[in-house]
Amino acid sequence: MLNTHIRFEHDADRLMLLDQRYLPCREDWYEVRDLATTVYALQEMVIRGAPAIGVTAAYGCYFCARETLRETDGLLPWAESLRARLDTLRNARPTAVNLRWAVELLESMWAERPGIGLPALATVWLDKAKAMQREDEETNKAMGAHGANLLADGDRVMTHCNAGALATAGWGTAVGVIYSAVEQGKKITVVANETRPFLQGARLTAYELDKCGVDVTVACDNACALLMKKGLVDKVVVGADRIAANGDAANKIGTYGVALLAKAHGIPFYVAAPSSTFDLRCATGEQIPIEERTPREVTHPTGESSITPVGVKVYNFAFDVTPAELIAGIITEKGVLTPPYTESIAKVIGQKR
Ligand code: MRU
Repeated sequence: MLNTHIRFEHDADRLMLLDQRYLPCREDWYEVRDLATTVYALQEMVIRGAPAIGVTAAYGCYFCARETLRETDGLLPWAESLRARLDTLRNARPTAVNLRWAVELLESMWAERPGIGLPALATVWLDKAKAMQREDEETNKAMGAHGANLLADGDRVMTHCNAGALATAGWGTAVGVIYSAVEQGKKITVVANETRPFLQGARLTAYELDKCGVDVTVACDNACALLMKKGLVDKVVVGADRIAANGDAANKIGTYGVALLAKAHGIPFYVAAPSSTFDLRCATGEQIPIEERTPREVTHPTGESSITPVGVKVYNFAFDVTPAELIAGIITEKGVLTPPYTESIAKVIGQKR
């Protein structure tokens, strides 16, 4: 199972990331060694997926501390300088709350240690980043075990975007549920929506499922209604980038449409996400910021020539919000939450912060 795509190398003091921009064609590695390369990796989607963004951000905090140490020698006042770097990191991408969650978690460790020196803080943060990487995979396996009980032998499961091992430290959230069901001995076949414009489904979900020997068929995003109508989909399981207190769930653009179609065809639609993806500061999905990315992703799908007339306007919202009423269950590492979500989320997730 893929869990080596985020690798901290001690000797070189760097984080190596399997560069997801080039998969499945090339397995290139990207070197993260400071704040600038961390932010670049996040914004350009060298690494992506809410939990993987969170883990990378934790290592990013360590690099912020190292960089501030180099700048100030740990002697000059350094707190303001470090805070400014952490702010840049926290704002690298707006929708996946795991980014802010990770930075705030590490900031709270700093606040708990008044008087700590910068070298010691850097060490504390590096240890924590490594622990978060390990814990994320454990969390996903727990989530997978709960979610696998919702899948039956022979199920044809549709997923959107990539919520697999590559989107996390390992195993995955939505795709982790599929891996767990397969591990239980169930025969599961997967429909991976291609997920325009970055093609996480066609490139990444298909790549990792295929590598793991899970039967996967890639479908154009706009085939969803037909496939459901033809009876080729039994269940839908997707990940999330942020879940509001009422259960509204932000995920990759197109997910909302899949949920509406699932409802119309009587197909259960599940969301799988760890508790770090819940944002109880957002009462509803209305408060979730939606990232808008460069038009180039839409106009230049192969990176070379434009498929649209030059200068034409483009919508490139990277996420949408699926209303809670379309979600049959939210699979977490603590169990499967069911409606009414305001109550189940407050009860199960509410205590986390
Ligand atoms: O823009 P991305 O690729 O970071 O978006 C990722 C998604 O929307 C995933 O479905 C979501 O983060 C869940 S990942 C476990």
